[in-house]
Amino acid sequence: MILLLGGEKGGTGKSTLATNLAAWLAVKGRDVLLVDTDVQRTAANWVDRRHLLSGVPAVHCAERRGNVFHALRDLAKRYDEVIVDAGGRDSEELRTALVAAHQVYVPLRASQPDLETSLHMNELITLARGMNPTLEARVLISMAPTNPSIKETVDARELLQELSALIPSAATISERKVYRDAMTEGRGACELDNDKARAEMAALAGEIYGDTDGEIQP
Ligand SMILES: Nc1ncnc2c1ncn2[C@@H]1O[C@H](COP(=O)(O)OP(=O)(O)OP(=O)(O)O)[C@@H](O)[C@H]1O
Ligand SMILES: [Mg+2]
Repeated sequence: MILLLGGEKGGTGKSTLATNLAAWLAVKGRDVLLVDTDVQRTAANWVDRRHLLSGVPAVHCAERRGNVFHALRDLAKRYDEVIVDAGGRDSEELRTALVAAHQVYVPLRASQPDLETSLHMNELITLARGMNPTLEARVLISMAPTNPSIKETVDARELLQELSALIPSAATISERKVYRDAMTEGRGACELDNDKARAEMAALAGEIYGDTDGEIQP
């Protein structure tokens, strides 16, 4: 299955989610390839750091630029799970990955500038479905405030209901330092000692990859 983390807004947590989900799958014993299509190499750098660790399951990495359609479909024949990290802008990589992917998650913060970009993403996904009609698309609130008195996440979720091509994910990822630590260390939150982050990442992974209480469903 090809999962794309994509969006037109920079810094919304795409690479953070891509690396955390890759680590989560690796811990579950799945054969996972992380494909970095962004010249910033955030995901590839995370894999480089992970390679220096001992005792963690491997996450393989590939880097592809430009039209990535054929590369992704080809890599999906060789790995159980392919996770694609696309940079935060409208690009050839994002558009061609949308045509190759089975699922796309668009992380957004619950803030006006981020939410505004969802309208054009809605158009890009509609366009991609012309060639990739079974593409599943979800929008996810990332970096949500952990302070319960801040209601931005609820308001944002309501606004996102209006999108025709994307459905809101049932999962929410909060703003937590542990995600930055995990990125720095080449690990996933599932490998670190923070129950809340582990739980929210497991909920997201469960939505994407199926019931995760026991064995992962194929
Ligand atoms: N849930 C989170 N909690 C705390 N910090 C986060 C979280 N998600 C991402 N960050 C931090 O926010 C910054 C941007 O995250 P990230 O690189 O994942 O975004 P991105 O969408 O991949 O950005 P780009 O569009 O540039 O590729 C990083 O410093 C990252 O560590
Ligand atoms: Mg990134």
